[in-house]
Amino acid sequence: MNTQHEAPRIVVGVDGSPSSRTALRWAVAYAGLVGAAVEAVTAWEIPGEASWSAPAVDAEFDEEEAEKLLVDEVRTVLGEAGSRLVRERLVHGHPVEVLVDAAEGADMLVVGSRGRGGFRRALLGSVSQQVALHAPCPVTIVRPDVSVA
Ligand SMILES: Nc1ncnc2c1ncn2[C@@H]1O[C@H](COP(=O)(O)OP(=O)(O)O)[C@@H](O)[C@H]1O
Ligand SMILES: [Mg+2]
Repeated sequence: MNTQHEAPRIVVGVDGSPSSRTALRWAVAYAGLVGAAVEAVTAWEIPGEASWSAPAVDAEFDEEEAEKLLVDEVRTVLGEAGSRLVRERLVHGHPVEVLVDAAEGADMLVVGSRGRGGFRRALLGSVSQQVALHAPCPVTIVRPDVSVA
């Protein structure tokens, strides 16, 4: 729970997948209802750095480029006006750890039910399942076909 009496903050995991896009739209709609700020977080790893998770971005990683991709992704999903409500953050690390850390002090963590997948995945939806177990705040898992007002 947000015990520091900061402005309400909702964290959403963005990996460019259809589920993550719906999660982002859901997070912004919900944030509007509760007057929260939205933080869109992408975790990146060097491919092969971890043995089992799919990297958020592919080989020849360029941090500046990845930051731009995240900003573009948010703008594509929400449009110009919507994207102004969102703060983007690119963070190095395993997606589960990055999202759980980012959720510290937040009011909610929102993720998609599925992600980009990839050859290294051990389980489908492993990030969403792990954050649901370990996040320090309530977690909402959004399926790609959910309708968002
Ligand atoms: N690298 C990442 N950075 C931020 N969020 C992520 C990342 N990977 C996954 N997520 C979040 O977790 C959700 C579920 O993805 P995941 O559990 O990885 O499913 P899959 O196994 O199908 O890839 C995504 O929709 C997204 O919200
Ligand atoms: Mg994934």
